[in-house]
Amino acid sequence: MMQTTPCSVHALELGPMENFIYLICDHASATAAVVDPAWEVPEIIRLADRLGVTITDILLTHSHHDHINGLQEILERYDAQLHLMKVEAKFWGHELEKPTLHYGGDHIELGKTRIEVLHTPGHTPGAACYLTGNNLITGDTLFVFGCGRCDLSGGNPEQMYTTLKRLKENLPRDTVIHPGHNYAEKPTTTLEEQIEGNPFMHFDAVHDFVHYRMHEHDRIRHAPYRAIRQQ
Ligand SMILES: [Fe+2]
Repeated sequence: MMQTTPCSVHALELGPMENFIYLICDHASATAAVVDPAWEVPEIIRLADRLGVTITDILLTHSHHDHINGLQEILERYDAQLHLMKVEAKFWGHELEKPTLHYGGDHIELGKTRIEVLHTPGHTPGAACYLTGNNLITGDTLFVFGCGRCDLSGGNPEQMYTTLKRLKENLPRDTVIHPGHNYAEKPTTTLEEQIEGNPFMHFDAVHDFVHYRMHEHDRIRHAPYRAIRQQ
């Protein structure tokens, strides 16, 4: 079959916290990058086998337990290169065997697929989003009609405000968002739809955003998140 795009993105929803684990598959080389391997690693392996790809790279959006608890099991099965932000590796403080450390603005080559690394702090200091074609894998930075918490260790709501503003200003509106958790009524969305309906995208003043994220949001809104019109 002719492939018109160099890669495809496949999602698995695994574990008790509704995590999304992604495979970015490069068609030319039949290799894949797994993003945030966690929970049921046999399911990830089964998907890779079904797609006929070998996992050569592991990409972490951040170091929280629910996004990395399958890392060792993946490394035991595949000879795969681990990628994460240098800042996140330092924040995590975990002994890692020869990871490739990224700085944001750099990229990863997966066969003929180019994956850009975006530094998106706010949920954690070295949180990353991964952009390939018009697909953006956002981890706990941006959810469908939501965004990641900023009150945990290493969280910073001012940084989250800037991160979301940059995504809004720098990426095409038809960018497809692939979040780290299934917290809405549908698994994916577009940036356009988030600019319209995601309340975290509606702020023009950082202090209003910080108040909403830190004190208001979790009292008044619960998953599954739905679109909110800008007031
Ligand atoms: Fe997280």
